[in-house]
Amino acid sequence: MAAANLPGVQAIVLPSDADRTGRDLGAEELALLREVIESGTLNCTKGTQVKAFEKAFAERYGVPHARAVTSGTAAIHTAIAAIDPEPGDEIITTPITDMGAIAPILYQQAIPIFADVDPVSLNITPETVAARLTARTRAIIATHLFGNPCDDVGIQRVAEAHGIPVIEDCAQAYLATQHERFVGTIGAIGAFSLQQGKHMTTGEGGVVITTDARYARRMMLFSDKAWGYGDPNPDHYFLALNYRMTDLQGAVARAQLGKLEKVVMCRRRTAERLTVLLADVPGLTLPAPVQGATHVYWKYSLVVDPEVVIGGADALGAALKSAGIFCVPRYIQKPAFLCQVFVERKTYGTSRCPYSCRVRDGNGEVVYEPAEYPGAMRGLERIVVLPWNEFYTDAHVEFIAASIREAVLKLSQTKRDRRGRVGRTLSPGTPTRLAGRADT
Ligand SMILES: Cc1ncc(COP(=O)(O)O)c(C=O)c1O
Repeated sequence: MAAANLPGVQAIVLPSDADRTGRDLGAEELALLREVIESGTLNCTKGTQVKAFEKAFAERYGVPHARAVTSGTAAIHTAIAAIDPEPGDEIITTPITDMGAIAPILYQQAIPIFADVDPVSLNITPETVAARLTARTRAIIATHLFGNPCDDVGIQRVAEAHGIPVIEDCAQAYLATQHERFVGTIGAIGAFSLQQGKHMTTGEGGVVITTDARYARRMMLFSDKAWGYGDPNPDHYFLALNYRMTDLQGAVARAQLGKLEKVVMCRRRTAERLTVLLADVPGLTLPAPVQGATHVYWKYSLVVDPEVVIGGADALGAALKSAGIFCVPRYIQKPAFLCQVFVERKTYGTSRCPYSCRVRDGNGEVVYEPAEYPGAMRGLERIVVLPWNEFYTDAHVEFIAASIREAVLKLSQTKRDRRGRVGRTLSPGTPTRLAGRADT
């Protein structure tokens, strides 16, 4: 696509994680897939690939237990089921994440309690988590958004003080660290997604890891109908599902794991270069890891100041899209609690359970007030999420940087011109209209 709006910038087509331009899938995956096909065993109970992947993944993270499952959603569900909340218990999480990380809370009859986020990183913080603790809090889900660790150590400290386990959602944060420790190993359980766009992929898939043998046992059982394989008197011990990964996915996962280190290294190198190139561009706040952490750049997030960049995130996003950079202004568009499932409590039939279940008697129905989430509202309004990829070269990064610089320059000049002409400050609250004017 031509960079129509940005005459100073030579357009380049960027690699995409949606296809082979941005995914390293090849001989290694094919060789292991061939083994599976030729063995005639495609499932993991009898096959060898998933077992080998689980062992290798656990070793990579330095933990004794890993369990492969069918998706990141299944990974979060399996982790929650391992903790085994009582119906009506509360699980603190972020309102800015994939719905696959929240729905499993309701499926286990627990209630999501949203903590506010930092308006720049869009991550929950020890303070926002602490503000949501009640006598019914049963777990915390700490999501490392965009590959940027939240203050894991700080959140763990809050959790420990209250005897509550932390599930770390590392779907976007493979090999990210805080204080030299991998995120996913600081809390009680780490959960990962292997969906198409993640640092490593099997198309769909997930993994959970833990050092706790009791959680490991429950995760193994929950993802396999709670049947006690190998036990002297096996039974279906509790309510559970089939989240088993196939050995075909296991084969791809093994090969992808071998490439993970390089993927993370490449993404970090190019993203850090972009940060250097954009350092002097006004009106932008660039990603900055919390103290002692390493960011692994699943995406590259920009926070846009609408006082400087007229039209804010929407206008910058539109300019970048027209330059061929398929970014997403406002990320998920609205916090989870404004989605229909939560606003209308569309859960089990017309029951509104678990919100209105008798098990909540005496605790009142949980209400989500947008005014209690200034960080989430402000953060989503201002963020532009850029795709990031291990195949980006210096030329790609320079193209992205030049496009952003040009777009910001153009949008900030718009403000000065119009101010001079009409003699008043334009409202930053009408981004679409202003962006339209800026383009004419
Ligand atoms: C942070 C986070 N958690 C959980 C999920 C759910 O993973 P999946 O799409 O593999 O079910 C995603 C989605 O990609 C995610 O980004």
